[in-house]
Amino acid sequence: ALTMVPAHTACALLSLAPLLVLGVPPIWTQPEQVHLSYPGVPGSMLVTWTTFNKTESMVEYGLLGSRLFDMSTKGDVALFVDSGVEKRKMFIHRVTLTGLKPAATYVYHCGSDVGWSDMFSFTALNDSSSFSPRFAFYGDLGNENPQSLARLQKETQLGMYDVILHIGELPDNARIGDVFMTQIQSIAAYVPYMTCPGNHEATYNFSNYRNRFSMPGQTESLWYSWNLGSAHIISLSTEVYFYLEFGLELLFNQYEWLKKDLEEANKPENRAVRPWIITMGHRPMYCSDDDQDDCTKFHSYVRLGRNDTKPPAPGLEDLFYRCGVDLELWAHEHTYERLWPVYGDKVCNGSKDQPYVNPKAPVHIITGSAGCREKTDRFNPNPKEWSAFRSTDYGYTRMQLVNATHLYLEQVSDDQYGKVIDSIWVVKERHGFSAWS
Ligand SMILES: *[C@@H]1O[C@H](CO)[C@@H](O)[C@H](O)[C@H]1NC(C)=O
Ligand SMILES: *[C@@H]1O[C@H](CO)[C@@H](O)[C@H](O)[C@H]1NC(C)=O
Ligand SMILES: *[C@@H]1O[C@H](CO)[C@@H](O)[C@H](O)[C@H]1NC(C)=O
Ligand SMILES: *[C@@H]1O[C@H](CO)[C@@H](O)[C@H](O)[C@H]1NC(C)=O
Ligand SMILES: *[C@@H]1O[C@H](CO)[C@@H](O)[C@H](O)[C@H]1NC(C)=O
Ligand SMILES: *[C@@H]1O[C@H](CO)[C@@H](O)[C@H](O)[C@H]1NC(C)=O
Repeated sequence: ALTMVPAHTACALLSLAPLLVLGVPPIWTQPEQVHLSYPGVPGSMLVTWTTFNKTESMVEYGLLGSRLFDMSTKGDVALFVDSGVEKRKMFIHRVTLTGLKPAATYVYHCGSDVGWSDMFSFTALNDSSSFSPRFAFYGDLGNENPQSLARLQKETQLGMYDVILHIGELPDNARIGDVFMTQIQSIAAYVPYMTCPGNHEATYNFSNYRNRFSMPGQTESLWYSWNLGSAHIISLSTEVYFYLEFGLELLFNQYEWLKKDLEEANKPENRAVRPWIITMGHRPMYCSDDDQDDCTKFHSYVRLGRNDTKPPAPGLEDLFYRCGVDLELWAHEHTYERLWPVYGDKVCNGSKDQPYVNPKAPVHIITGSAGCREKTDRFNPNPKEWSAFRSTDYGYTRMQLVNATHLYLEQVSDDQYGKVIDSIWVVKERHGFSAWS
């Protein structure tokens, strides 16, 4: 994964982008870049979109099959001025729909009397803890080579997923961001599209990311958690370990927040209802790529923290292990890699024959090969013993959280026309720290 785009490439992109994008002048009041997110409150859904002139923010909606648009909800609009040279202005609209019927399908459009979006639909999430949600997740789906996009668009519109998890790496400037957000509308306007920040978002202190997305909580989408089915899902920023110039306090604030959130999720009454704890963050703790990234080093910052800061910064591996995190999803490396259960650089199989049945440490999946301009990375020919399966095919991962004990994962290869190239069942009769022994 290329951490930094060389200045000349970035400039070339900038100067090309207007030609590509502005072939047709925008209609300033027309909504674009429509996307959904789940605010974490049962029966709710949040619609976010962009206009280039200030307008009202309205969603008109109705149950599929009944009268169209018989309900409407107003929201807020915020001015976002891109910090780049163009200082482009845009208006980000946010409307939260509440009181939705679980598992019911709604048809909606958004905008105002001076411009409406196309019509989209979504299914309100089933809020039962015995619901078995189906996810697709990936990172590093770039706008210049969104290799897996068509397949994901079709599968999403076919209703194969309840939620999409985007594990970081969205484009880093506002104009390219517009193209990207327009491309993902065909996915993100139909299912909640839950994100975490990646390194490309770092430009201007993640301002594009913070302004364009609307995740639960009060941290501008940087870190947050939510519940679905039998899972508690935590999204975090690994970037706080790398962009210290934006404030070391972000790293410590996130760490303290993670500790509190995990303690809460581990209260017996909470863990009984949501036994699975799943984390997602952009840069992995482990990987066997040959690109010198953080995860290729024994002393990964994300895993073990940093000792060159004052005070030293704690890493995440111990916290996640002590709090019994079951599954950790990562991206950044432009490859797919599944690990045997691992802690402290050591394999902790459930048993030799059934490593994922009652594993003795968290399970890590790295899925950063959805498509990106840097092409996929290469692997180190001699991986450590925790590396279980690797692929450089473009693709993405599917997950079904079947019930309190069973979780299924599979990897789809786009290069092989949608073939499933890897799959596992993670089976846990117990969750939490005590499950490791
Ligand atoms: C709409 O936005 C464009 C671009 O920012 C600006 O030039 C124009 O004056 C705006 N029009 C109105 C009516 O606000
Ligand atoms: C939600 O999911 C549960 C578990 O699968 C199911 O029993 C229930 O009927 C679903 N709720 C609705 C409204 O479909
Ligand atoms: C970067 O953004 C975060 C989140 O809004 C903020 O807390 C922090 O102070 C900002 N850092 C700088 C250097 O502006
Ligand atoms: C500090 O961190 C570096 C790697 O970032 C590591 O090589 C070194 O052993 C650490 N020192 C101590 C005292 O932990
Ligand atoms: C973990 O399990 C896998 C699959 O059975 C096996 O190939 C591997 O050798 C095991 N590793 C250790 C350290 O036991
Ligand atoms: C959970 O799902 C698995 C796989 O479908 C099934 O074998 C098991 O019986 C289920 N457990 C319960 C309690 O329903």
